[in-house]
Amino acid sequence: MATAGKLYIVLMGLPATGKSVLARKLQETLAGDGRAVRTFNNGDVRRRLFPRNTSFAEFYNPDNAQYSALRDEIALINLYEAKNWLQDGGEIAILDATNVSRARRAKIESHLHEHPILYIETVNNDPELYAYSIDRKTRLPEFSHLSYEEARQSFEDRINFYRKLYTPLNDERNHLVLDTLNNRVLKEHIQDRFPHYFQIRDLLVADWVKGLYLVRHGETTWNAEQRIGGDPLLNDHGNCQARAMAEHLKSLPLGFIFTSSKQRSRQMAEPLLCARPEARHMVIKEFDEIHAGICEGMTYEEMRRTLPQEFAARSADKYQYTYPGGESYATLQSRVDRGLKKALWIAGVSQNICIVGHQAVNRAILAQFLFRRQQDVPYINIPQEKYYHIVSVQEKKVVELLGY
Ligand code: F6P
Repeated sequence: MATAGKLYIVLMGLPATGKSVLARKLQETLAGDGRAVRTFNNGDVRRRLFPRNTSFAEFYNPDNAQYSALRDEIALINLYEAKNWLQDGGEIAILDATNVSRARRAKIESHLHEHPILYIETVNNDPELYAYSIDRKTRLPEFSHLSYEEARQSFEDRINFYRKLYTPLNDERNHLVLDTLNNRVLKEHIQDRFPHYFQIRDLLVADWVKGLYLVRHGETTWNAEQRIGGDPLLNDHGNCQARAMAEHLKSLPLGFIFTSSKQRSRQMAEPLLCARPEARHMVIKEFDEIHAGICEGMTYEEMRRTLPQEFAARSADKYQYTYPGGESYATLQSRVDRGLKKALWIAGVSQNICIVGHQAVNRAILAQFLFRRQQDVPYINIPQEKYYHIVSVQEKKVVELLGY
C-alpha cells in the first residue's frame, strides 16, 4: 500500500540534456517548500564504488556483458538507497540517471512499486548547447588523465552507446517529456494522481533565475552623439561606468558573464571579469543590439530629416516597425528570447549571472519578467548607470532597478 505523499521522480535522457540541472531545480524548489527531498545519482554511486577507471567509453557498451552487469548493479544500489530513504522518512526521491532503455525502467518499476513514479524525459537537440555540454564534461576530473580530444571522443562514444538503447518514454504510466532549452513540455501522459504534481509541472516550464544582473553597456562615442547602432567603443565616461559597475558588484559571486559580440558590451564586462575571475565569459550573438539596417550610424535627427516616412512609421508603431534592411523589436524579441534561454541553460544552477546588453536587447529581456504589453516594450527605461536585478524562482519574483 502506498504511503500518502511519497513520490519517486525518475529522470531519463541522454547525457548533456539537462538532467542534473533539472534534478537540482526540483530538489531546491521542493526542499524550499519544506519537503524532504533527495537526489540519487547513479554516477555518484559509480564514482564512490569505483573511484578509478569507469569513465572509459567501453564501460557503457551495452554489448559488453561484464560492464553491463556492473552498471545494472550500480543502478540497483542507487534504487535501494532511494527506496530506503523514503522508508526512513523521506518524501520525494529523485533518481538522476540516463535510464534510456525500457528494460532498465522495467527493473526500476519492479523494485520501486510502493510509491508512484513520475518519469521525466529530458530532450535537448540544440547543436551549440550540445557541443558546449560536451566541452564542459571533458573538463571533469574523471577525464583529467586524457587529452581534450581523447576526452571529447570518449564522451561522444559513451553517448552513442546510450543512443543504441534509447527508447523514448511511452509505456510508463506517468510521464512527461521536457524540452530543457525552451522549458516546454512536449508530452504529458499522467494517469495517476500524486503529490506535488502541479508544483512540479509549473517548475518545468518556468525560467529559473536565481539572480540575474542585467546591465547596459556604458556610454559610447556614438551614444554621446545620439547615433544609432554600429560597433563603437566606450568613451572615457563609459569606461568609468564600467569600472564603477565592477566595483559595485565586486563581492557578488558570479557564475557567468554573458555579453553580446559588440565591442561596447565586452569592454563593459572587462573590469567585472577582472574583479570576479571565477566567472566564465561567454559571447551570445543573440544579445547583439537591434540592427537598424540603412539607419545604422545615423543620428535620430538625420533619420528624421532624410527618411521622414520611416521616422514617422517608427514613431507610429515602434514595436512592429522594421528598419529597411534591419530588424524590428518584434523580430529582435524572438532572437533575444532564444539567447536568454541559451544563457539560462548554460548557467544551469549558477546562483548569479550577469548579462551585459544593449538598450533594445535589455528591453526585450526585461519584457519577459515584467509582462509588459508589446507596444510598451520599446519604451522601457534602460539607463546606463543603473542595472536591473531579477529573481524569478517559484517562491520569489523580484525585478528591481538599482544604481552602481
Ligand atoms: O542609442 C543606443 C541604441 O543602443 C542604438 O544602437 C539602438 O538602435 C537604440 O539604442 C535602441 O533604442 P530605440 O529603439 O529607442 O531607438
